[in-house]
Amino acid sequence: MTRPRNDTFLRAIHQEPTEYTPIWLMRQAGRYLPEYCETRKRAGSFLQLCKNPALACEVTLQPLARYDLDAAILFSDILTVPDAMGLGLYFTEGEGPKFERPLRHEWEIRDLTAPDPFEHLRYVMDAVAEIRRALDNSLPLIGFSGSPYTLACYMIEGASSSDYRHVKTMLYDRPDLMHRILSVTADAVIAYLNAQIESGAQAVMIFDSWGGGLSAAAYREFSLQYMQRIVAGLIKVHDGERVPSIVFTKGGGLWLESIADCGCDAVGLDWTIDIGEARRRVGHKVALQGNIDPNVLFAAPEKIALEAQKVLDSYGSINTGHVFNLGHGISQFTSPAHVATLVETVHRYSRILRQNK
Ligand code: CP3
Repeated sequence: MTRPRNDTFLRAIHQEPTEYTPIWLMRQAGRYLPEYCETRKRAGSFLQLCKNPALACEVTLQPLARYDLDAAILFSDILTVPDAMGLGLYFTEGEGPKFERPLRHEWEIRDLTAPDPFEHLRYVMDAVAEIRRALDNSLPLIGFSGSPYTLACYMIEGASSSDYRHVKTMLYDRPDLMHRILSVTADAVIAYLNAQIESGAQAVMIFDSWGGGLSAAAYREFSLQYMQRIVAGLIKVHDGERVPSIVFTKGGGLWLESIADCGCDAVGLDWTIDIGEARRRVGHKVALQGNIDPNVLFAAPEKIALEAQKVLDSYGSINTGHVFNLGHGISQFTSPAHVATLVETVHRYSRILRQNK
C-alpha cells in the first residue's frame, strides 16, 4: 500500500468523505513563480528544463513549498509525445510551441508510429520516479498527457492556431487521415500514461484543450471516442492502489454527460459552467474538478476569497467528489500572494461548509 499521508485529493476523486475540499492548480509550477524563472534560466530553456529530471523535479516541488496544495503534478508538457514521434518540438520566445516537421502529407501520416515511452520519453519516467522519491509519500503525484485531438491540432498546424484551418480541412476532407493520426496518437498516449503509472504517477489527467472547438458530432467522433479508448486502456490498479483518471475538455460543458460516461473517474470543468449544475447533471457518476476562472486571481484578495466561496457554495455541502482547481492554467501574470489566498480560502471555507451541514 502506498497511499500518501495527505490523500485528500485521492479520497475526493474516489468520492470518499474528506474533511475539506482538496485543491491543486493547473500549471501550478510556472512563470508566475520567480523561483521557477530562476530554475528555467539555469536549465537554458523550457524544453531543457522538461528534459532534465532533477530540474523538472525541483520545479514540481516549488509550488508545494509555498502553498498547502493537496497534489503535485509532474512538470512536463503535453507536446513531448509528438516530439518523441519525430516532429521536432521547439519553443520560440513569446510565440509558444512549434514543430519543425508538421504532418501535412499522406506519406508522413502513414509512417507515424507510437514511440516506446521507456526509450524515447525516458526523461519523463525518470522525472516521475525522482519526484515520487522526493515527495516521500507526503502528497499524491498526478501524471498527464494531451488528448489525441489536442495533440493532433499541434501536430497538423505545427504551432498554436486561431482557426485550426489545416486541422479542420483534414478532418472534413480526409477523415481517414485524421483517424489514422488520432489512432496512432491514442496508442502512444496509452503507453505513455501507463509508463507514468508504472514509474509512480498515482492519478492521470488527459488535457483536451482544443476539443471544445469542435461540433457536437465531431467532438464525439474525433475527440471523445479516443479519450474513451485511452481510459479503457489504462492500468487501473498499481501498487495495490486504484489509479484514477481525470478528463478535461476545455469548452466541453455542453457535453458533460457524455464525458462523464467515458469511463473516467473525474471530469475537469472550465469556468463557464456552474459546478452545482454540473453535479446535478452527472449525479454521482464521477468526481468533478474545477472550476474558478483563473483571471479571478488578478483581483484583490478579498474578491478572490468571495469568488472561491461562490464555487464552493454552488457545489454545496456534499463532503466529497470535488477537487478544487482553476478552469484553465494559471496566468504568468498572477501574483504569488493571491494564490496563497485562494488555497487558504478553499481549505478554510470548505471545512465551515461541512460543519454547517
Ligand atoms: O500543470 C502543471 O503545472 C504541469 C505542467 C504543464 C505545462 N504544460 C507546463 C508548461 C502542463 C500540464 C502543460 C499542459 C499543456 N501544454 C497544455 C494543456 C493545458 C492547456 O494549457 O490547455 C497545452 C495546450 C500545452 C502546450 C503548451 N506548452 C503551450 C501552448 C505553451 C505556451 C504557453 C505559454 O503560456 O507560453 C507551453 C509551454 C509551457 N508548458 C509552460 C509551462 C510552465 C511555459 C513555458 C515557459 O516557461 O516558457
